[in-house]
Amino acid sequence: MLALLASGSTALTVGVAPSTARSTRAVSQPAMSSSDRCAVWVVGCGVPKRGMGWYHAKQVIEGDVPNAAVTAVVEPWFLGAGADSPPGKAFAEWAEAMKEKGVAFCDSVDAVPVAEGERTLALISGRTADNPRLLKEVIEKGCTAVYLEKPGAPTVKELEEMRAYASSKGVPVFMGYNKNVTPYVRKALEEAKKRPGSTTTYIHNNAYTEAELPECFERNAEGLLKNMAIHELALLATYWGVTVDTIESVTPDADFSRCLTLKGPSGETFTDFSKAGFTIATKEGQQITLLIDRCGSDAGGNSVAIVSQDGGEVFRSETPDEELIQTVEAAAKADPDMMPYFFLQSDDYQVLKELTTSHVLQGKPGAPEGIATLDVAIDALKLAEYLTPTLQEALAVAK
Ligand SMILES: NC(=O)c1ccc[n+]([C@@H]2O[C@H](COP(=O)([O-])OP(=O)(O)OC[C@H]3O[C@@H](n4cnc5c(N)ncnc54)[C@H](O)[C@@H]3O)[C@@H](O)[C@H]2O)c1
Repeated sequence: MLALLASGSTALTVGVAPSTARSTRAVSQPAMSSSDRCAVWVVGCGVPKRGMGWYHAKQVIEGDVPNAAVTAVVEPWFLGAGADSPPGKAFAEWAEAMKEKGVAFCDSVDAVPVAEGERTLALISGRTADNPRLLKEVIEKGCTAVYLEKPGAPTVKELEEMRAYASSKGVPVFMGYNKNVTPYVRKALEEAKKRPGSTTTYIHNNAYTEAELPECFERNAEGLLKNMAIHELALLATYWGVTVDTIESVTPDADFSRCLTLKGPSGETFTDFSKAGFTIATKEGQQITLLIDRCGSDAGGNSVAIVSQDGGEVFRSETPDEELIQTVEAAAKADPDMMPYFFLQSDDYQVLKELTTSHVLQGKPGAPEGIATLDVAIDALKLAEYLTPTLQEALAVAK
């Protein structure tokens, strides 16, 4: 039986998320006065052209999210101990220019100016380990809702504590899982829904070289499942009803997978997958395969969703598609310092912020369709914590 679910196990009407067309830009929208907009505090901004929070702030400030206005940026490190570093100086230059646009720059959540009656989305994009504390601080400060970058916290235990705290204060938390709204995923879900008995394969390729893996393993020490495959695990939890409790079996693809122990730049050793492939069968009889590879692309990374039936491929969607490759190549040429994934995923980030800020403005309950909640984040991280040793053990036996 096909078990396509929305979060909270509500049946999902699968469709391409609204406003995903690359041509959708704020310039074509009617102007809103700032009091009509959802105020956004970007907490953990990071450096211009490198930090995820910075890119979120840029999109809102430049009018790509007409519902929203950045009223405050909280940057504890680059407005604090890291201010004198070269990235700190780049941050200060950007901050100076943005102050003219009415954005307050604060070195702590406590310093954020709060306007009476304003609906506020606190967008937390700090380092994963700092996020549990930042979530508590923004809720204490009085935000209406939280947008939390994935995976949200280093461990399931911390995410569960965050969920309990947010829920005790009645503050919804939306997760920045962009694959939940991206067109290639939504199109394949739509196709799978039409074909009972079909299986779906998610392929996710990064573009690291073998030589870059030691640094990659150290920087992403939480491991491939928690750091890279977590996007697909969130899809499984959101749309396929996969949790640790609904898994019937996990079949590792020993030929595809590779687990390595490498010495990072610090001299410490790290054991992780450079690639991991496995098929999950659920108790409801659904099968989904994940093929996740750090070095699977030589052109900036790509992701594919394949629907198969009776052993044959019946549908495939991929990002970037030809049109996006050209857009990204032109944008990267024009601005080589910008993280390339910002160009690749720009539309997804815009959709996530449009959906969440309009939800906040309308005072709706629950979460916008497809947006991952903390429940999904917990299920996804539980899957990662369960699958990592399961796969490592299975692959060790297979050798
Ligand atoms: N959804 C996506 O596609 C996507 C992509 C990239 C990152 N992310 C997530 O966004 C969040 C932020 O990622 P990022 O790559 O922008 O992080 P980052 O490490 O570049 O910056 C995050 C924050 O870390 C702090 N910081 C930086 N250097 C520091 C130092 N030396 N000491 C103390 N603090 C320091 C700064 O306050 C900064 O705002 C993470 O949760 C990440 O998982 C999501």
